[in-house]
Amino acid sequence: MSPSEASTTSRLGPWTSEPTGLDMRNTMGRYLTGVAVVTAVDAAGAHHGSTISSLQSISLEPPILMLALNFGTRTGAALQEGGRFAISILGAKQEAIARRFAVRGGERFADGEFEGTPGGIPVVEGALAQAECVLHEHHVIGDHDVFFGRVTASRDRLGGPLAFLGGRFGDFRDFGHEELPWWF
Ligand SMILES: Cc1cc2nc3c(=O)[nH]c(=O)nc-3n(C[C@H](O)[C@H](O)[C@H](O)COP(=O)(O)O)c2cc1C
Repeated sequence: MSPSEASTTSRLGPWTSEPTGLDMRNTMGRYLTGVAVVTAVDAAGAHHGSTISSLQSISLEPPILMLALNFGTRTGAALQEGGRFAISILGAKQEAIARRFAVRGGERFADGEFEGTPGGIPVVEGALAQAECVLHEHHVIGDHDVFFGRVTASRDRLGGPLAFLGGRFGDFRDFGHEELPWWF
């Protein structure tokens, strides 16, 4: 049974005290997210990137976003070396790229699938949105590096997003209700 089917048919179990990593994964796995690729260029000019679901918008004015990476990833190291990074928010047809950037090792940057931000950081061609950032703050929280980036350039297009829930990819269908007003 897929996680989304299960959520409509089962009851909540007893509370788990002091949740383990697996418990945390199960609990937060119920939170549907989009999927993005974070990219950075290291001091030697090599490209690095990783699939993420931890992307969040933090501040609108000034524009600041946040993401979290496991300790010790090459992407996190490159991001700190260069002091810059970019994010590409993936569309529903880009699951293959999400999978490629989630597997350790191997060539991730294939010709023709990437283009550059104004500052020359690789981004996924045809993504739903792309943003270039300068590293604003870095915090170590638990077993993750949390990076805040000030957005220096961005663009987006219409299209269906790639979604992620309980370890599975899918897409998103809205209810067709009236759009909420823009508020902040
Ligand atoms: C949908 C999805 C979302 C992910 N989100 C994150 C994330 O937010 N932070 C993270 O550190 N890893 C995340 N991962 C795992 C990384 O993509 C993966 O561990 C990493 O790319 C491994 O490569 P590297 O350590 O060689 O750079 C996610 C994987 C998938 C499939």
